[in-house]
Amino acid sequence: MVTGGAQGIGFAVARRLVASGAKVAIWDVDGPLAECSAVELSDGVRSFAGDATDSDAVQAAARGTLDAIGLIDALVASARLAGMNATVIDDPVAEWRRILDVKLNGTFRCCNSRLPALVKQNDGRVVLIASITGKEGTPNAAAYSASKAGLIALAESLGKDHAALAIAINCVTPAAARTRIFDRMTKHDIAYMLSKIPR
Ligand SMILES: NC(=O)c1ccc[n+]([C@@H]2O[C@H](COP(=O)([O-])OP(=O)(O)OC[C@H]3O[C@@H](n4cnc5c(N)ncnc54)[C@H](O)[C@@H]3O)[C@@H](O)[C@H]2O)c1
Repeated sequence: MVTGGAQGIGFAVARRLVASGAKVAIWDVDGPLAECSAVELSDGVRSFAGDATDSDAVQAAARGTLDAIGLIDALVASARLAGMNATVIDDPVAEWRRILDVKLNGTFRCCNSRLPALVKQNDGRVVLIASITGKEGTPNAAAYSASKAGLIALAESLGKDHAALAIAINCVTPAAARTRIFDRMTKHDIAYMLSKIPR
């Protein structure tokens, strides 16, 4: 299952998994787009509309995936909410909470709901899509940066929690990939992100 799999990095991951013969379910808050993306990928790909911050929606999508596929042995968490670009002084508390709720708490909820099954079957893969921002911090994006640092720590802890089992937890920290994330950024911020990539 790939959360945020309707587009961008999640969609690319889903495409790669399909190419490897995996049975894939896309979970995305944008249900219609998730449906179109699933059709584009392959006949067998399932899509579920669901908000990663909503425990009931996560459970419903998990049930739907299990009914359709029979087993969930890999979770890729790639949901992304566009946050506002502002300094900490200008960043309202509500915005801080909103971003942490989707990016960090939403990923926690997905792990919390799916890991018991992976533990029971002693087999599983979890991949959290964080960001280089979580390691270095990005100007005008404190909430985003903090959420990504949280994801890195979450992956480290989960890895240690499950080290004795056949469950691998990985965290990927991309720099910049030209998805719609670029549409909401200023030219200055894009240039800053790209300047971090040596080649
Ligand atoms: N694109 C980059 O340059 C870049 C760099 C570093 C890290 N990342 C991270 O990679 C991941 C994917 O980013 P992207 O650029 O592909 O984004 P994107 O906007 O192209 O795709 C993200 C998807 O997440 C879905 N989504 C948003 N909120 C959701 C929610 N509450 N529940 C379920 N789905 C939800 C969206 O509908 C969308 O389809 C994100 O975690 C992002 O922070 C991206």
